Amino acid sequence: MDGIGRIKKKFGLIGRNISYSFSKAYFTRKFADLGLVDHSYDNYDLESLSEFKGLIQQDVLHGLNVTIPYKQEIIPYLDDLDEKAKTIGAVNTIKFVNHHLVGYNTDAYGFEQSLIPMLQTQHKKALVLGTGGASKAITYVLDHLGLDYAFVSRNPKNGQFAYSDLVEEHFQEYQVIVNCSPVGTFPQVTAKPQIPYTFITGQHLLYDLIYNPEETAFLLEGKKRGATVQNGWRMLQLQAEKAWEIWNS
Ligand SMILES: NC(=O)c1ccc[n+]([C@@H]2O[C@H](COP(=O)([O-])OP(=O)(O)OC[C@H]3O[C@@H](n4cnc5c(N)ncnc54)[C@H](OP(=O)(O)O)[C@@H]3O)[C@@H](O)[C@H]2O)c1
Repeated sequence: MDGIGRIKKKFGLIGRNISYSFSKAYFTRKFADLGLVDHSYDNYDLESLSEFKGLIQQDVLHGLNVTIPYKQEIIPYLDDLDEKAKTIGAVNTIKFVNHHLVGYNTDAYGFEQSLIPMLQTQHKKALVLGTGGASKAITYVLDHLGLDYAFVSRNPKNGQFAYSDLVEEHFQEYQVIVNCSPVGTFPQVTAKPQIPYTFITGQHLLYDLIYNPEETAFLLEGKKRGATVQNGWRMLQLQAEKAWEIWNS
């Protein structure tokens, strides 16, 4: 309760080294725009998830976002998982229902909704660069939309490509390329995934999950060759809006 007896609705983000957080700025602005003076959004920077139980005991929370590095590690701490989060194996949104913690994945929604308007008839197969947590939500969506995909990894397992395997034919076959690696994130803005950009054409769609900088070196290489490009901003906004919808449902 606050000083005048109103119950506060508290939201927040758990992760590590999250002072940069998009979510805090986004939701603080949203609450102000909607006049929700009893809502607040805080960053909970956790050194390890062993601090999580203490956090939820000490604060009455309504909803949380989850970011790197806890999207998978958080799952054993939850009481229930939405089907999509279960299939993906990663959670970025938690809803508190009478002290019952339910995990959701809204990254997949954000990616899907931002990707659909960009897809053209030639976009039937995708190369997914990186095999970490985010790539799981991305391949869930590609499956759902009926796009075939192959992973590209620094340490390829069965059926995956190494960066050095990629030749012209791969770029004729795979005309969607999704950067699910952090390569190119501020401040390393000149870094880019090591693919042969010379084979990128105006038929390709290059999607970078990175949103800072807005135009990564990866996207710039695509743009120079006439490809359709998309950064991670729209996905980020859409996943936040979906989390808001879940907390209010
Ligand atoms: N826009 C959005 O809404 C949104 C949502 C989620 C995530 N993201 C962004 O997506 C990116 C990936 O997130 P994540 O959680 O999956 O990250 P992550 O687990 O740290 O890394 C993803 C994968 O990238 C590859 N990788 C890591 N460092 C690399 C390097 N130096 N060179 C080449 N490849 C490297 C690795 O795959 P291999 O070992 O197989 O090469 C790693 O498993 C981050 O930049 C994150 O901010 C954006």
